[in-house]
Amino acid sequence: MASIEVDVSSLVEGMSLTVKWRGRPVFIRNRTQQEIEAAKATALDDLKDPVARNANLADDQSATDLARSAGEGKENWIVMIGVCTHLGCVPLGQAGDFGGWFCPCHGSHYDTAGRVRKGPAPENLAIPPFEFISESVVLIG
Ligand code: FES
Repeated sequence: MASIEVDVSSLVEGMSLTVKWRGRPVFIRNRTQQEIEAAKATALDDLKDPVARNANLADDQSATDLARSAGEGKENWIVMIGVCTHLGCVPLGQAGDFGGWFCPCHGSHYDTAGRVRKGPAPENLAIPPFEFISESVVLIG
C-alpha cells in the first residue's frame, strides 16, 4: 500500500488541505477551537453513525471527537477520506448545517468531526491509516 508524507506546517488554525492518496481525496484540517468544542458538545446519542470509522483505532471505537481526531494533544487535526459515504461524491468543506462538510449530490451533512448528522449518507467520513511522524509531517497509509 503506497504511503504519502504531507507537510502540514503551512496549515494554520482554520485551514485545510486536500491531498490525493490511493486515487482518493484526503482532507486534512487544522480545526478551530470552536469546531472542536462544537463536536465535543454533541451527545453520542445524537449521532447517526456511532462508530469512529477510524482505521487507527478498534472497529468498535465510538465516534467521540477525540476518536475522530489525530488523538490526544493533536485534537485540532482531522484527517479523513473525502468521499461521501452515500454514493461517493466529494463533500464541500465548512458547509452544511453542522459547519463541517456538506455533500451537494444528495444533501448529506457532516459535522466538524466529519460525522454524518443528516441526509442519506450511512456512515461517518472514513479516517485512513495515518500518523504524525514529526510535528508537521503526516504519513498517510
Ligand atoms: Fe453524498 Fe449522495 S453522494 S449525499
